[in-house]
Amino acid sequence: VEQSYIMIKPDGVQRGLVGEIISRFEKKGFSLKGLKLFRCPKDLAQEHYKDLKDKPFFPTLIDYITSGPVVCMVCILFTATYFVILSCKAWEGAGVVASARKLIGATNPLQAEPGTIRGDLAVQTGRNVVHGSDSPDNGKREIALWFKEGELCQWESVQTPWLVE
Ligand code: GTP
Ligand code: MG
Repeated sequence: VEQSYIMIKPDGVQRGLVGEIISRFEKKGFSLKGLKLFRCPKDLAQEHYKDLKDKPFFPTLIDYITSGPVVCMVCILFTATYFVILSCKAWEGAGVVASARKLIGATNPLQAEPGTIRGDLAVQTGRNVVHGSDSPDNGKREIALWFKEGELCQWESVQTPWLVE
């Protein structure tokens, strides 16, 4: 099942936006599979953002992400299991990763559309309140970095048949 690693950054926690941000994903129909408040060590932040290590803003990015607690989430859309149970034909594009990126909006809040989290709640790239995996493969990589197996919860949401036909 496709999974997205979503994280409320320290500014989102400090500004009291945790409930608002989680609520947006819940309302969309995502289900939480993991959730914790966590103070991120420097080496984990560096590993998470390792693709950006040569960028000039990398040191400030690491300072930002480690400046206070973050809220770590694993989000999924219950579709795959549901269709196996009903023996229906495969439903293409569970799409939780791409869908989360749409809800989050562009990296620079100036370019993020109103209605997106960054468009509504943030003003600067360096304080853009939330992270979302940019591909299903990176989703897997990031979940393995931020969560231990025992911290994730296997369950099936009752809303599945009301989200997908
Ligand atoms: P994430 O979901 O956090 O990965 O953001 P993104 O995928 O929209 O953007 P990207 O992965 O390219 O950059 C990761 C993070 O680095 C951004 O969300 C910003 O917090 C920060 N960042 C990116 N570009 C800049 C920049 O030009 N200046 C500063 N100060 N921070 C930047
Ligand atoms: Mg990114």
